[in-house]
Amino acid sequence: MEVGEARARSRPGSAVGWLTPLIGREAELADIVRLLECSRLVTLTGAGGVGKTRLALELSVAPEGADSRECVFVELAPLDPSDREPAQVEPVVSAIWRALAANRAQVPWPSLEALCDHFSARHALLVLDNCEHLGVVPQVTELLLSRCAGVSVLATSRLPLELTGEATYHLPPLTLPPAETSDPFAAVLSSEAGRLFLERAQRSLPAFVLTPDAAPLVAEICRHLDGLALAIELAAARVRVLAPRRVVRSLRTPRDGTGEHARAAPLAAGVARLELPAPSRRRAGSPASTSGGVGLASWSNHGGGRTR
Ligand SMILES: Nc1ncnc2c1ncn2[C@@H]1O[C@H](COP(=O)(O)OP(=O)(O)OP(=O)(O)O)[C@@H](O)[C@H]1O
Ligand SMILES: [Mg+2]
Repeated sequence: MEVGEARARSRPGSAVGWLTPLIGREAELADIVRLLECSRLVTLTGAGGVGKTRLALELSVAPEGADSRECVFVELAPLDPSDREPAQVEPVVSAIWRALAANRAQVPWPSLEALCDHFSARHALLVLDNCEHLGVVPQVTELLLSRCAGVSVLATSRLPLELTGEATYHLPPLTLPPAETSDPFAAVLSSEAGRLFLERAQRSLPAFVLTPDAAPLVAEICRHLDGLALAIELAAARVRVLAPRRVVRSLRTPRDGTGEHARAAPLAAGVARLELPAPSRRRAGSPASTSGGVGLASWSNHGGGRTR
């Protein structure tokens, strides 16, 4: 399977990742594609919000003709965590059947046995997204892999499934603009975190542009949030109501009175703090950077500069 300009083979109905472009991650995509070529079970692990699901979405499509196998993207996140009990196979099996229905397959009685029969003669990639809260997933995966020789599984989970033959790939955070740089503007544009911030800020406030003045602030926001995609999205959405300087200030402000707090738990503290857009803080027209910066179209060609 190759990665490139992709066409969907199966599009998960509610997965919003499709609505926005994938930023960066070229090396990770290539690594995972290679792993999938030599392992029938690959688990994408990593911190919450780092981008596992978004990458799995990208991997569930391929250029037409590049890979003939069927791909089924199964969203497990909505399932109730009370289905953790290993005995509760049914909700997971039903979720897989529902995903197959989205692929326009005939859906017979949703038993695990019927699922194995369905896949027994097929060449398919099953993407099991957000497995961590469901204790039964390893059991279902193991059975499918042992009974269906043409099936491979790509799982996303904060922790490995702990199955024999599993290849795990730990997804790192997005690349960051370096702290020490003579050109913070270029550093933001060449980092994945900076580009994600800019993309999301401009979705939130189309007039937002990156200026030389705002660049060090955006870089600081990205570093403060450790390159975690979800946290960066939340921060970027704030530019609609807060100028980048004030977003930085809100991230720096300790919640518990100790200046070390935010540094000790940047994601939790940062995300929590970003959740408080007190109406009193809003100032009409205040947040966007001034003119003389770059917009979405002009930064898309900047590349490279991975700082890990
Ligand atoms: N490389 C990327 N380009 C664009 N958007 C991204 C990228 N990585 C992540 N995102 C976005 O960031 C958000 C969080 O990503 P995602 O849901 O994939 O994280 P996750 O690791 O699966 O989190 P969880 O452990 O909670 O399931 C999503 O809105 C996703 O679309
Ligand atoms: Mg996820």
